[in-house]
Amino acid sequence: MTEHSDLTPPRLRTVLGHFATGLTVITAATKGGPAGFTCQSFSSLSLEPALVTFSPARTSSTWPLLREAGRFTVNILPAEHQHLSGQFARSGADKFAGVDHSPSPLGNPVLDQALAWVDCELHAEYDGGDHTIVVAAVRALSARADAEPLLFFRGDYFGVQSRAGALESVA
Ligand SMILES: Cc1cc2nc3c(=O)[nH]c(=O)nc-3n(C[C@H](O)[C@H](O)[C@H](O)COP(=O)(O)O)c2cc1C
Repeated sequence: MTEHSDLTPPRLRTVLGHFATGLTVITAATKGGPAGFTCQSFSSLSLEPALVTFSPARTSSTWPLLREAGRFTVNILPAEHQHLSGQFARSGADKFAGVDHSPSPLGNPVLDQALAWVDCELHAEYDGGDHTIVVAAVRALSARADAEPLLFFRGDYFGVQSRAGALESVA
């Protein structure tokens, strides 16, 4: 077996960044008001029962607030609102400044710009190294047909240009 000693975080980030994902902002109505954070590690998990998963960093100051609320909404971002990814990734800032939202069935903030949203309750948490693996039960969800997804690939933002697969950077 070939030994690869270069498993440093920067190299892991660079190589694993070749796995393209969508981007989400995960929000909740907490005791201190609306809270949320940008999250790339979201994925669908199970259809029956309906489960999704994502992984907050152990350093996240927002996840403990969402965890305490026990319910949250995954807002899937559209390409034309890439700025929301940066805005919800700034720790300590007023992340909701200028962002219109309305309550989900569970009472969480649904961003007006969301391409789709998934209303969830916390189901389970597992150890994930410097992250926590969250499994959440889906309680309600909805999607729009009039927008395209925001993609994250090699540390950069992209939109989907066509069904043929051409990618157009929106960074
Ligand atoms: C493109 C992008 C993807 C991100 N994905 C994640 C993620 O999957 N998990 C996570 O914990 N943080 C992720 N972050 C970082 C958080 O958004 C950021 O650290 C967090 O909002 C910091 O604020 P907090 O201390 O309020 O949680 C991502 C940030 C960006 C810009």
